Amino acid sequence: MAFQMKMYNKISDANIEGKRILLRADLNVPLKTGHITSDVRIERTVPTIEYLLSKNPKQIVICSHLGRPEGKMISDLSLKPVFEWFSRYFDDVHFEREPIMNIEALPENKIILLENLRFDKRENKNDKMFSKKLASLADIFVLDAFGTLHRKHASVVGVQQYIPSYAGHLVENELLFLDDKLKHPKKPFVVIIAGKKEGKIKFIKNFLSTADYIILGGVVANTFLKAKNCNIGNCDYAKDHLDFAKMCLEKYEEKIFFPEDYVIGKSINDLAERVATRSDRINDNYIFDIGPKTIETYKNVLSRAKTVLFGGPLGVFENEQFENGTKELAQYIAGFEKVIKIVVGGDTALAMEKFDVATKMSHISTGGGASLKLVSGGKMHGLIALENNMQLFPNDEI
Ligand code: 3PG
Repeated sequence: MAFQMKMYNKISDANIEGKRILLRADLNVPLKTGHITSDVRIERTVPTIEYLLSKNPKQIVICSHLGRPEGKMISDLSLKPVFEWFSRYFDDVHFEREPIMNIEALPENKIILLENLRFDKRENKNDKMFSKKLASLADIFVLDAFGTLHRKHASVVGVQQYIPSYAGHLVENELLFLDDKLKHPKKPFVVIIAGKKEGKIKFIKNFLSTADYIILGGVVANTFLKAKNCNIGNCDYAKDHLDFAKMCLEKYEEKIFFPEDYVIGKSINDLAERVATRSDRINDNYIFDIGPKTIETYKNVLSRAKTVLFGGPLGVFENEQFENGTKELAQYIAGFEKVIKIVVGGDTALAMEKFDVATKMSHISTGGGASLKLVSGGKMHGLIALENNMQLFPNDEI
């Protein structure tokens, strides 16, 4: 496996007493009509907050993104529901809605949660002024957002130019676990790459040399269907990676599996269960789940595994009529003994809870793309920045 553990400072190395801390968490939780449907990501960052509180800091300013608002203020993507969660769990929490961050303007509360960082387009651009502004809110920075460790964003990378920075417990634990189990995975190693993010297709390249089998679902699978000249109706696919998918079909036919059949619908609320195959023209339909034949093929491949990396739901599992693919594979994998079973990503974690198999998995990682990038040997910008930060602030009271 190509990824390497880096050297970085951890919160146990930091002098926290009396300091203001800027904590970057990944509070990108799934929401339905304003309610949090899985609070795994919040719960998993709580030990870091509790540790910091136990060291008597002056203040903890917590920041995060939620969804992809692309620089726009979208009220459905406000972190307010997360603030409400925090208020039930911790004393003295304040929600700072104002995008203009100014340390003098912040109240004295022990914990402050800032509004969604991605409401400001400078966050994703790793903008210098925005990074500086964030850094000016604190004496030290703690990076606990494992899910965005691969992103070159202001609150992950830029801010580390200006203040001493430390990895939080969540980041530290995720890195230790994934390094331990996936540096040299027990073979056969089967990776499932699925879900709605088309960027995941990029990880296939790195897994070609390390995984024995790669199973596809979601937008990535649609790209392979398209490359095979199948009619995929109204579905999204990774347009820029069509040639890559064609190359994979030519060279790695034995290794890569994509759907033979699928459950289609005209809309997400379509209750009619129709199954189509690769030769069908599905025209104005969408693919919402893998079909029964595909489920059987995928189970057959998974039955050979000694290590499974489950990176994304196979269908729109939130809706009963499209949950089968994810449910059946999750329950099948959960039943494996003596197999390392690692689940990555917020949606996949939510699916494991929904199908009541979360406790049967070896590890549920809070990172989706981040975990896939890490274990496939990609660049983890947040980690590189932590490493560089050690050089920038070599004498910070360690
Ligand atoms: C995730 O959901 O994987 C993380 O929160 C990162 O989100 P992003 O892919 O929108 O950066």
